[in-house]
Amino acid sequence: MQILLTGGAGYIGSHTIIELDKAGHSVVVVDNLSNSSPVSLERVGEIIGKEVPFIKADVRDAAAMDKIFKQYRIDAVIHFAGLKAVGESVQKPLEYYENNMNATFVLVNAMRNNGCKNIIFSSSATVYGNPAIIPITEECPKGACTNPYGKTKSMLEEVLSDVQKADPEWNVVLLRYFNPIGAHQSGRIGENPNGIPNNLMPYITQVAVGRRQELGVFGNDYDTPDGTGVRDYIHVCDLAAGHVCALHAIERKCGLAIYNLGTGHGYSVLDVVNAFEKVNGVKVPYSIKPRREGDIATCYCNPAKAFKELGWKAQYGIEEMCRDSWNWQKNNPNGYEGA
Ligand code: NAD
Ligand code: UD1
Repeated sequence: MQILLTGGAGYIGSHTIIELDKAGHSVVVVDNLSNSSPVSLERVGEIIGKEVPFIKADVRDAAAMDKIFKQYRIDAVIHFAGLKAVGESVQKPLEYYENNMNATFVLVNAMRNNGCKNIIFSSSATVYGNPAIIPITEECPKGACTNPYGKTKSMLEEVLSDVQKADPEWNVVLLRYFNPIGAHQSGRIGENPNGIPNNLMPYITQVAVGRRQELGVFGNDYDTPDGTGVRDYIHVCDLAAGHVCALHAIERKCGLAIYNLGTGHGYSVLDVVNAFEKVNGVKVPYSIKPRREGDIATCYCNPAKAFKELGWKAQYGIEEMCRDSWNWQKNNPNGYEGA
């Protein structure tokens, strides 16, 4: 199939191009580079041995999107484009609502006008709020999101579900990602956060590489085995492969389908620090800090539905995730900057 990846120059998108290529699909990327570097696509091109067709445009630009659909015969869209920093979304709610909602409205309209009715949407475990069931199945009711970022994900799930309900020719796959970490084994592409990282793994790797002094562990008084927060970390290459499997659902005309993409294993903050130190032979100094506002104690999924219906299962464990995150960081201490 010919797949359009919105936001395809970003962390998850760049890894997904490689998996799509492996499976014999062709890709087109549209990205405004607001949170990414064109170097990621150059490097993906080196890895797959061919240039990645790239259009620098904003998904909110209706004319640009219409042109892409007229120029390429797109079979399905994987919609990664969006702003994703939770803390920033609290500071800049309008920017987050405007970007994430409008980009999706413009995209879906351009798709409809051009007869492409297959979409895979990047959703998040954040839609479960403080989850009512652990491990989280797709039947778990959605919960209250405490920040504008999470609210856009939850609302866009509703928007896309309603579009599918109104016109059953649409196939809509909502993928609820758990916590993607790791990087491609080549060490050529990986996560490249701007400024001080908000998420755990990029913070750990920046401490390990000497860019930051120590990790702050946000709370050790949660109701978890060691008191620190427990999450379902998933290797980004496994997550990327999940999108290829989601295309099978589209081929089978799934209508609306929702899948958790996680490993089903919960690791605490200290589990991750310990695994990282052990696998990579580097120290990660840390100190215990107060809880971070909005954090929950435990979040991990039951990924059985994705296995049963898509044949998808995560292959990598926490060791590979820690190894590959470090391989990326140590080979690219400043990410893509200066590359
Ligand atoms: P990322 O920031 O690396 O990639 C997103 C890409 O979208 C960036 O390249 C950015 O430049 C682009 N973009 C943003 N707004 C755009 C617009 N209006 N027009 C064109 N391009 C635009 O993020 P990622 O980690 O690769 O995440 C991809 C998607 O998955 C996002 O929607 C994110 O919310 C979602 N998600 C990510 C995580 C995670 O932990 N990384 C977890 C759950 C869900
Ligand atoms: C974050 C987002 C969530 C998003 C998810 C997927 C927040 C509040 N939530 O989830 O919306 O869907 O990423 O990427 O940002 N931690 C530390 N020290 C740090 C950083 C994190 O102790 O410097 C702890 C956190 O308290 C948490 C765990 O590490 O227990 C994971 O944190 P993080 O990587 O930010 O992911 P989430 O909070 O799970």
